[in-house]
Amino acid sequence: MNAKKIAGEKAVEHVRDGMVVGLGTGSTAFWVVRKLGEKVKNGLNIKGIPTSKSTQKLAIEMNIPLITFSDVNHIDITIDGADEISSTLDLIKGGGGALLREKIVAFASEKFVVVADESKYVKELGSFSLPVEITPFGFEATKREIQKFKCLTKIRKLEKNEPFITDNGNYILDCYFELIEDPSHLHTQLNMIPGVVENGLFVNMVDQVIIGYNDGEVKVLDKLE
Ligand code: A5P
Repeated sequence: MNAKKIAGEKAVEHVRDGMVVGLGTGSTAFWVVRKLGEKVKNGLNIKGIPTSKSTQKLAIEMNIPLITFSDVNHIDITIDGADEISSTLDLIKGGGGALLREKIVAFASEKFVVVADESKYVKELGSFSLPVEITPFGFEATKREIQKFKCLTKIRKLEKNEPFITDNGNYILDCYFELIEDPSHLHTQLNMIPGVVENGLFVNMVDQVIIGYNDGEVKVLDKLE
């Protein structure tokens, strides 16, 4: 069974008529947007705020009405994927390079629900390289500062060896730590470096995680209050 689809569709059960919904990015969020599109077709009245140009395109194809931050000052719920989810429900995100918009939208949301297949649920963060969005200007200097945190770094590239450019015109530096012992501390330290726009650690932001399993099971994990 498709574990990503199971998780994504389960999360859509949270969405009610009249809500403003943050629309995540990636192959799991894809199923969320697809399901929302079906529901809109059947009369559900929502407005979406996409977290990337690719999700914007998909949402338009699905006829989901879209708005921007200039139209609302409140997002009811955001549903998005993740690259790693720890046992404390902290995340690494940005595998698709959309981490900055994803974090802005999630932070502005009353409820942040993360959907993933079972492979993403880990004990501690760090096996997945942490994506850090950095400005092209001075990226060599920014990279050197980040390397002081004892990680292996790589500027994300496209097939033709061109740098990957985010929706915001920046680079992604993928940082391999192996183990991130204190995500909150690392998050703060990284964001203090000039040239770092944002990093892919989402600490203490999640309200609920929905994990889909290949055998068709679905597990719902709520943040401990
Ligand atoms: C996009 O930049 C990411 O944060 C995605 O949400 C994350 O990479 C999960 O993607 P998949 O659902 O495709 O694994």
